Order: sequence, then structure tokens, then C-alpha cells
Amino acid sequence: MFAGEARRLTTSLADVAHGKAFLLQAGDCAESFHDGSADQIRDKLRVILQMAVALTYASGVPVVKVGRIAGQFAKPRSSPSEERDGVTLDSFRGHIVNSEEFEPDARVPQPARLVEAYHQSVATLNLLRAFTKGGFADLSQVHAWNQQFVATSAEGQRYEAVAGEIERALHFMAACGIDLGAESSLHEVDFYTSHEALILPYEEALTRVDSITGDYYDCSAHMLWIGDRTRQIDGAHVEFLAGVRNPLGLKVGPSATPDEIVALCDRLDPSMTPGRLTLITRFGAGKVAGHLPDLIDAVGSSGHPVIWACDPMHGNTFTSSTGHKTRRFDDIVAELAEFFAVHRAKGTWPGGVHIELTGDDVTECLGGAESIVEDHLADNYTTICDPRLNARQSLDLAFLVAELLRS
Ligand code: TRP
Ligand code: MN
Repeated sequence: MFAGEARRLTTSLADVAHGKAFLLQAGDCAESFHDGSADQIRDKLRVILQMAVALTYASGVPVVKVGRIAGQFAKPRSSPSEERDGVTLDSFRGHIVNSEEFEPDARVPQPARLVEAYHQSVATLNLLRAFTKGGFADLSQVHAWNQQFVATSAEGQRYEAVAGEIERALHFMAACGIDLGAESSLHEVDFYTSHEALILPYEEALTRVDSITGDYYDCSAHMLWIGDRTRQIDGAHVEFLAGVRNPLGLKVGPSATPDEIVALCDRLDPSMTPGRLTLITRFGAGKVAGHLPDLIDAVGSSGHPVIWACDPMHGNTFTSSTGHKTRRFDDIVAELAEFFAVHRAKGTWPGGVHIELTGDDVTECLGGAESIVEDHLADNYTTICDPRLNARQSLDLAFLVAELLRS
């Protein structure tokens, strides 16, 4: 991508920091070398657009759309190795490093994968640009984004109602004499890319000096984030990202202390630029009230104009009795509700959400309107890493978040 695009995203995120917009960051846990088809990318984008429509319409605030896409290939792991039936192999680290099959050869890191990840990212970004600027994201298409298996469901019906109202509003404006064709904001969206900046040699190779400002930008994505496992203040990831001007995310888990986070804010955002830094909290349902208030107080008094976003996925992962890594839809909703409640009590802006999802009709997370139960997990469990919300669960969640935003 280009430095100017990253600056534009920073400007939009500054609106989020000021409580005038909302951040929707969503996409795969780990993109796969086997799932880069045009249809799969279109389906993922379609769900995110549907969520954005539901959120924008119900909350009345602009939604900044950032995908976990076009470069989200590297995975930090809790354990360096994995054991199955007495056999121990190196862990799967994302397709940019090795492969997920439980075989010794598959787990050997292959440098050529760095190049393949780059090419798939470039192709994905090219397609996203075409979809978002070339007509697919046009608001006149709101009805067309409802896929068959979604449209017949309760959340699909709810979406149809919103789509119908948007269509009527557009007709109304046209009848009033407004030339809708001339309003490019109705026909296009700004859609940004992001991924965890984990493999530093890869990120470094894609870093350029911007010819306009002379600043460094990591051109592998518009926004990059630092994981909860690699946010050491004297670590390489913090050192590298402090030196590039892209908007940054910082994942904040239950082990983070307020002092640590303030020190990281000082290091990553020394000039206190609104939109530069998004703190993405991921504590787990039931744990938000024990951690978030102290962080808000400490960061608030430090003066850093951060965005507070909630990742309700990563603190709520467990293994089912069927042996699948999964998450409960209800836990995800509970963590979001706690996040909104803490911000309401503090008078701070709950700036955004960070979601793992897919456009496919998978069965990876439990519950939701379809009431997926443990015995159903095996039906269509295709993730190569963490369990993702399917299209229906994602849309359902967007309506719930919209209600939390409105109240
Ligand atoms: N461009 C506006 C926006 O991004 C309106 C818009 C056009 C839109 N197509 C959209 C909003 C698709 C959400 C989804 O907000
Ligand atoms: Mn994940």
C-alpha cells in the first residue's frame, strides 16, 4: 500500500479517538494459502460490509473499516511445540512460516513461504480495491450482500429491513433532486488492511521512506498491530513499530499492568497523535471490570489520545469435549457488554471492536441464533488456527454492538 493511504487511515482513526466514529476491525484469525480465491475474499468483504451497514445505520456514526486481511499469515503460539498421541512436533506458525498438517515435513519453516505470502497479499489487496471502489460496495447493493443462507435467518431478515430503509432513504434523496450518482461516498468505501507485525524481517523488507514526508512506513499493510505476547517495552517488535508512521494496534491482555501500557504508549506514540495508537483489549468475559478501569485511568492521565477497542475473541477460547478449539457466542457478547459498560461508567468512548470471522458457513463458534452445539462443531470446521464467527453470527453480533453503541 502507499504511505498516503496510511495517513488517511490515521485521520479517520483520529475521529474514532475523538468519539466521532467507530472502528470495525475484522477478518480471519489466520489467512490460508488454500483460501485466497476471489469468491472467498468477496464473501469475507461482504460480511464486513453488512456489519458496517448495520452499525452505521443503527448508531449514526461513521464506521472505519479495517480488515484482518491481505497479510494476516503469521501466528504467535502459546507453545513452541504440539503433542498428539505421544508424537511431538514444532507448532504451526501460520502459512508464512510452515503448514498446519500434523506431519514433520509440514512443520519445517520454508523461506519461500514469505514470498508466497507477499504475492497472495498483493493479489488480495488488488481485489479488495476493485470490490470497494468498482461498484460492489455501492449502497444501492445493500440487498445483494445478503447471501442465501443468511437471508432466510432472523438476523438476515433484520438486515433486510435496514437495507429496505436505506433504499427508501436513497429514493427520497433522489426525489428531492440530489444527484446520487455524483456522490462518490454512496458508491465506494475506504477499506483498509491490517495484520499482526510478527515476522520482523518480512515487515522490514516492505518498509519504505515516503517520498513526500521522508518518514518510514511499513507498506505491508495500512495498520499493524503488536500482539500480547510480543509487546515487551525493550523488545524488537516495539522497537521496530516505534519507527514507522503507520497507525498501530497494541493487544492488551490480562497480564498487562497500567504502568507497562503507559510506558508503551510513550514509546509508540511520543507525539500524542490522535489515531496513531489503538489499544485492543482482550481479557475474557467476566474479567473486563477487573482490568480495564485502571488502564483507562492510567492512560487517561498520561494524556495519550488512544482508541479503546475490544477484542472479545482471544480471551474466550477453550477446547470443547469434542477436541475442537472453540468460543461461545454468549461469552463474546458478554465481554463486549462489559467493555461498553466500563466505558459508559468512565465517560470514555468505546471506540471499536476487533473480530475474527469468515464469510463461509462454518461451525467453529458455539451458540448464536443457529444454536451451534458441541456435536455440530465437526460439521464444517475449517479454520487453520482460531475459531471464527460465521456470516450469520457476525451479522447478529453487529446488531448487538449497534444496540450497545446506541444505548
Ligand atoms: N462510503 C460510506 C461509508 O463507507 C457509505 C457506504 C457506501 C457504506 N457503501 C457502504 C457503508 C457499505 C457501509 C457499507 O460509510
Ligand atoms: Mn486468533
